[in-house]
Amino acid sequence: MAIEFSQRIGRIPVYPAAGGYALATPLVRLASNESPFPPLPAVREAVEHALLTLNRYPDPSNTVLRRRLSERYGVPAARIAIGNGSCDILLAAGEALLEPGAEVLYAWPSFSVYPHLSAASGARAVTVPLDAGERHDLEAMLAQVTVATRLVIICNPNNPTSTAVPLADIAAFVAEIPPYVCVIVDEAYCEFNTLEDPDSSLELLDSHPNLVLLRTFSKVHGLCGLRVGFALCGSEELPRALDQVRQPFFCNALAQAAATEALSHQDSVEERVIRTVAERISVDERLRALGLATAESQANFCWVHLGEDRDERAILDGLAERGVLVRGGGALGSEDPAMRVTYGLPEENLTFLQALSELL
Ligand SMILES: Cc1ncc(COP(=O)(O)O)c(C=O)c1O
Repeated sequence: MAIEFSQRIGRIPVYPAAGGYALATPLVRLASNESPFPPLPAVREAVEHALLTLNRYPDPSNTVLRRRLSERYGVPAARIAIGNGSCDILLAAGEALLEPGAEVLYAWPSFSVYPHLSAASGARAVTVPLDAGERHDLEAMLAQVTVATRLVIICNPNNPTSTAVPLADIAAFVAEIPPYVCVIVDEAYCEFNTLEDPDSSLELLDSHPNLVLLRTFSKVHGLCGLRVGFALCGSEELPRALDQVRQPFFCNALAQAAATEALSHQDSVEERVIRTVAERISVDERLRALGLATAESQANFCWVHLGEDRDERAILDGLAERGVLVRGGGALGSEDPAMRVTYGLPEENLTFLQALSELL
C-alpha cells in the first residue's frame, strides 16, 4: 500500500528546476539566471576561514550579516530578515501570512515559486496577466485587492519576462494598499535595472510598515551555491514572524561569512553589472537580427519569443544537443513558444547565438 500524504502535497507544484546539474561535460549554462563570474577571492578566503568553525552551529541571529546589511542599506537590523536563499523568505512569508480563506495576489507569468505559497497554505492565488509590454499591470492588480488579501507580490524586474516597472508606479501602488496587507517587492535582479538607482526603493520603507524589499546574494553577488537572501522590511513584525515559522540555524556559517564579505565589494558588483549590461545590449541586438522579438530586459536574462509557428521543445533540445542549456517559456507560464536565456560570458553568448541561428 502506498504512503498516504496530506492534501497539500497533492496541491504543491513541483518547482520546474533547470536540468543538466548531473552532466559532467562543460556546458553553457544559461538556464538559471546565475552569475557567470566566479566568487571573488576575498569571499573565497572568508569561506575558507569559516570552515574552521564548522563544529559549531552558525549564529542563529545572523548578527554580523544583519549589522553589515543595516550599514549598507540604512535599515535598522531589527527590520532585516535573512533566509536560506530568498526563496526561504518567500515560503516562510507564505506560512506566516496565509491560510485557507486568505488571498495572495501576484502577476503571471512571474517567479515559479509564488504558486507554492497558496498551494502550501490553502490560501487562494489571485493572478493578474502582465500588460502588453509584459510588465506588471499594477492598476489591474490593485483592482483585485479584497478584504481577504493578505499578501501581494511584485517581481521587479520580473522573472521570467525580464521587464521592470518604474518605482514611481510601485510607490503609487503601495500607497493604495491597505496597511494590513503585506507587500513584497521581489528585487532579486534589481542591481541590473538601469532605469533607476536600485536602492531608490529603500525610501519607501519608512512610510510603509507593510512593505518588504526582497533581495538575494544569488544573482549579482554570484553566491547561489551557498543559499543566502535577505528582506529589508518596513517594520520589525515580519522578521519576527518569519523566524517563528522556520527552523533555527537556517542560514549556514559559510553563507553568513561569504555574504558579509561580499557586501564590502560594491565596486566589483558595479563592474559585473556593467559587463552584464554590455552583453544584454549585444545579445538582444543579435536576437532581433535573427528576427526574434525580445522583451525589454532590465535583468541578467532575456525573454525571447520564438514565433507561433516554431516548436519550443525542438529548439530547447537542439540547443541542449549543442551544449547550451536555456529555459523553455512553456514551463514558466508562457502561452506562446518562448525561452528565457541568462546572459553569460561573451564566448558563452556567442555559442548560444551560433547554435540558435543554426536551428532557426
Ligand atoms: C524573482 C526571483 N526571486 C527570488 C529568487 C530566489 O533566489 P534565491 O532563493 O537563490 O535567493 C529567484 C531565483 O531565481 C528569482 O528569480
